[in-house]
Amino acid sequence: MMGFRHVPAAELHLHIEGTLEPELIMELAARNGLTLPFPTLAQLRAQYEFTDLQSFLNLYYANMAVLRTEADFADMTRAYLARASAGGVRHAEIMFDPQAHVVRGVPLAAVVNGIASALAASEQEFGMTTGLIAAFLRDETEEDALEILEQLLAMDAPIIGIGLDSAEVGNPPTKFVRLYDRARAAGLHLIAHAGEEGPPSYVTDALDLLGVERIDHGIRSMEDPALVRRLAAEQVPLTVCPLSNVRLRAVDTLAEHPLPQMLAAGLNVCLNSDDPAYFGGHVDVNFAALETEFGFDADTVATLAGNSIRSSFADGDRKAALLTELQEWRTQQG
Ligand code: HPA
Ligand code: ZN
Repeated sequence: MMGFRHVPAAELHLHIEGTLEPELIMELAARNGLTLPFPTLAQLRAQYEFTDLQSFLNLYYANMAVLRTEADFADMTRAYLARASAGGVRHAEIMFDPQAHVVRGVPLAAVVNGIASALAASEQEFGMTTGLIAAFLRDETEEDALEILEQLLAMDAPIIGIGLDSAEVGNPPTKFVRLYDRARAAGLHLIAHAGEEGPPSYVTDALDLLGVERIDHGIRSMEDPALVRRLAAEQVPLTVCPLSNVRLRAVDTLAEHPLPQMLAAGLNVCLNSDDPAYFGGHVDVNFAALETEFGFDADTVATLAGNSIRSSFADGDRKAALLTELQEWRTQQG
């Protein structure tokens, strides 16, 4: 059976810098008078074969060099909103990597104001509600993260939470307890990448030591039966990104992806694109790939979409409206 079209869903695991398409990289390089290490579209496109998380991160950070001005960040964000909304995303919680820009000399205000200006127009332009999450680079120091968090709080940046991303193995949650304590005291939501390449113990520590409300990825939790039972009992949201996991070789093939087992274990999983410009597609493409690979029926698709809406930080009225829209979608599938 061909895919179900555009289930209304929330996207909860999305790095806005990972939406930067090769065409926009070229356009921004020209606009900013920059020479790229891979100066043609074909040469750039040839770099998108990854062997693990680090090989992706190297290109991801290198490509950010074209993001210089507030307008660059606004254009990138608007392009994401247009594409995601066309694929059924009704609410998105969007991470950005402030440290990756500040270290290049881009003012934090240009980053925040550029992204925030596009998000502020999103409901009217695209019918999409949004939230902005500052993600911190776990391969940098906790002191550096704390300094940037204080700057974001001092400038009253419109963030709803913090996350933790970049190179996971060797950079465990234990390194960032003070950062998460500070963010909690500031009233922010707390999420973290855990169990993408790192072991199940990182998932446990993110829950117990950082107090996170959601886990980004979490697929390696499946190696620890006691943890699986806990995640099921507590209904901890796991923002799973299947196409990302295949492209970064966390799993060998989509057929071997643990999502069906995660669903069978009663885990609160939802589907996300992570870095759609790098991993082969947006949320709708992830849904379509899984429907093809595993033959998911409309009930399973609706379960995944419902999990995304309920696990979001949207307010109660917005969640209710989206769950109603999802129910209508389900009825239409017969
Ligand atoms: N994992 C960790 N850090 C990241 C990712 C990811 O998939 N994408 C952007 N930063
Ligand atoms: Zn991610």
